[in-house]
Amino acid sequence: MWSFLSMEKEPVTVLVTGQIGYAIVPMIARGAMLGPDQPVILHMLDIEPAAESLNGVKMELIDAAFPLLRGVVATTDVQEACKGVNIAVMVGGFPRKEGMERKDVMSKNVSIYKAQASALEKNAAADVKVLVVANPANTNALILKEFAPSIPEKNITCLTRLDHNRALGQISEKLNVHVGDVKNVIIWGNHSSTQYPDVNHATVTTSGGEKPVKELVANDQWLNTEFITTVQQRGAAIIKARKLSSALSAASSACDHIRDWVLGTPKGSWVSMGVYSDGSYGIQRGLVYSFPVTCEKGQWSIVQGLKIDEFSRGKLDATAQELIEEKSLAHSCLN
Ligand code: LMR
Repeated sequence: MWSFLSMEKEPVTVLVTGQIGYAIVPMIARGAMLGPDQPVILHMLDIEPAAESLNGVKMELIDAAFPLLRGVVATTDVQEACKGVNIAVMVGGFPRKEGMERKDVMSKNVSIYKAQASALEKNAAADVKVLVVANPANTNALILKEFAPSIPEKNITCLTRLDHNRALGQISEKLNVHVGDVKNVIIWGNHSSTQYPDVNHATVTTSGGEKPVKELVANDQWLNTEFITTVQQRGAAIIKARKLSSALSAASSACDHIRDWVLGTPKGSWVSMGVYSDGSYGIQRGLVYSFPVTCEKGQWSIVQGLKIDEFSRGKLDATAQELIEEKSLAHSCLN
């Protein structure tokens, strides 16, 4: 006999590592990542010195009485944390401090990622979807893939949705329009100061239909300079202001990334995701590079056929070059 309970979805197990956990776990438990009817089990992993505070987060999750939350594991044991995981949000890493370049944290993070990759490989669900947030995010994702060879390339991504959302935010502020009416910006390349926020294909929904952002802003000088550097440097600006890296916006964007990947992108719009390059837009294969993507049935695909002008070409190549250098630096840290 049908009962209400038998129609409920099976819980999805989500792993969150590291320090934006406090910001992201309530969002996940409220359904912002996987939908309002999807029960979740949360696994939280942090380092030994944070064990007590992690347990405090677990207590708060219980106290918040989230109806979708079907279990919480708070642990410092990476093997236990990765057990049966369907979605892994890898935030943990050595954080960038004020004045540090992302490359400074490379050697610390590649060894962390090597260990976590092996644990995912051994313990996670075979079709686990991985989102790397910790910097250097694109290169950490590459390392993760190397040490988790059975996880398909298509299942390992990194976060550039934060930069994408920052670009939407800047356009919305500039034009004084609702951020939800702006779409199809693109972040190309690395989640770093060489990323290229591109508005050549972006539009705003107005009462008179969809209008190109370029036409509405009508200021190429601003779009080609201040807009780009503001988005590129936003992470550093937040660190300067908060003395901590972004947490709220990173958590919210990570939820957006997974939600759109699992549940699909809205018709007629795309998002930015750091994914394995298949050579699209002349970007070397095997780099984790941010492209415009659409998602359907849990699979992403790179949007093809966009016109790339000369200005953009230079920017796409410069950020690819940085990723090539990061890749070889990461390999040298591993040896
Ligand atoms: C961000 O973009 O806010 C984070 O990646 C912080 C950083 O290190 O840039």
